[in-house]
Amino acid sequence: MLRALRARGGPAGRRAIDLGCGTGRDTLPMLAAGWHVLAIDAEPAAIAGLEAAVPAAWRPRLVTRLACFERAHLPPADLVNASFSLITVERLPVLADLVRRIHAALTPGGRFAGQLLGSRDGWVAAGRPVVGLDPAGLLALLRDFRLERVEEEEADTVTPRGRAKHWHLWHVVARKISSSSRS
Ligand SMILES: C[S@@+](CC[C@H](N)C(=O)[O-])C[C@H]1O[C@@H](n2cnc3c(N)ncnc32)[C@H](O)[C@@H]1O
Repeated sequence: MLRALRARGGPAGRRAIDLGCGTGRDTLPMLAAGWHVLAIDAEPAAIAGLEAAVPAAWRPRLVTRLACFERAHLPPADLVNASFSLITVERLPVLADLVRRIHAALTPGGRFAGQLLGSRDGWVAAGRPVVGLDPAGLLALLRDFRLERVEEEEADTVTPRGRAKHWHLWHVVARKISSSSRS
């Protein structure tokens, strides 16, 4: 996210949407850098935590929305960030529609930054309803973007509940190159 944030300088081009903002791990640095942020999360505790953490001086540049991002209206933005939030989308058509709406919301040259789940993720192997993408699937999903950064990460971790978890993630920064060609 920070890479995408730095890449978009100047007084114009400072409207961001943070999808699945949580308590503001990314929203707060965006506000600190002078951006206007629409922060969306489906969890009341996340929105409440973010609102409690925002310094008063930044508050006029923050709009929070308690909503599912699959259905939320996405206004024009120069950056759409989704850190570790799209990985829980359950079906490919829903994820593809969301990516299409992100593309539509982005201004020309605007960026999407976030993580998508890889096909070897432990949740995929366990049969959880998630979308695991192989390289071809990732490219197809983001075909209307120019990919500026794609980093693949695989790691074995232990969850806070003590369960083993294999992560397979794509870290992505992608730039809108044109209006969507999709219907
Ligand atoms: C792993 S947390 C990441 C939070 C923050 N982006 C970060 O990096 O610290 C995922 C967040 O996405 C939110 N989320 C998950 N699915 C969502 C959905 N369909 N609509 C809106 N928010 C969602 C969760 O409530 C949670 O706050």
